[in-house]
Amino acid sequence: MLRAAVCVSGGGTNLQALIDAIEQGNVTNTQIVGVLSNNAGARALERAREHGIPSAAVCPRDYQSREAFEKAMLEKLCQMAPDLIVLAGFLVKIPEEMVCRFPNRIINIHPSLIPSFCGTGYYGIRVHEKVLERGVKITGATVHFVNEGMDEGPIISQKAVAVEDDDTPETLQRRVMEQAEWILLPQAVDDIANGRIRVVHGRVCRERSGQDIKETER
Ligand code: GAR
Repeated sequence: MLRAAVCVSGGGTNLQALIDAIEQGNVTNTQIVGVLSNNAGARALERAREHGIPSAAVCPRDYQSREAFEKAMLEKLCQMAPDLIVLAGFLVKIPEEMVCRFPNRIINIHPSLIPSFCGTGYYGIRVHEKVLERGVKITGATVHFVNEGMDEGPIISQKAVAVEDDDTPETLQRRVMEQAEWILLPQAVDDIANGRIRVVHGRVCRERSGQDIKETER
């Protein structure tokens, strides 16, 4: 059973999608062992409580320095003894020490088709504002492993979503969530929990199933 710790900052709809997928049996072999937030008032923490999942808040303002905050966050996560850390709308830059402690064991959902509209300053609704400003016709979402860079780790999955002429940042955000994020994130966790993907030379490869091998060799 994969022990997943989920990090959240706000609404928690991606966390909810993962909880629902586990409860409905669409994600198997997975248990959410804890939810961590940098924001004590996050709706996402309530969602965790509603489903009996242990939750905790580690807030930067309660610490004298960034280092002290990062150390506390890492300690809290390590206490959960996770196999996988899922960043589900976690708007905190992941410290290098955490990446070293969990190599290819942290995944993130980002609301654009990486490498477009990502990196420093691109998070949450801002991504959709920039997409509309630029006038692109296709956007989407990406799930990727987290490395030392910002939105730069190996890509697990992506899904395209159309931009409509009359979109506002809010309508576009909602469509990207409904058509891409809430599908991709649970799928990625299921793939990892069931050993279907691995990272080879910085790229994500899908394991060939026994059936696939037979079909290619036929
Ligand atoms: C989601 O759209 C997620 O992709 C984004 O924040 C939102 C959180 O919503 N994450 C980032 O921008 C990370 N760079 P949620 O709290 O309802 O899941």
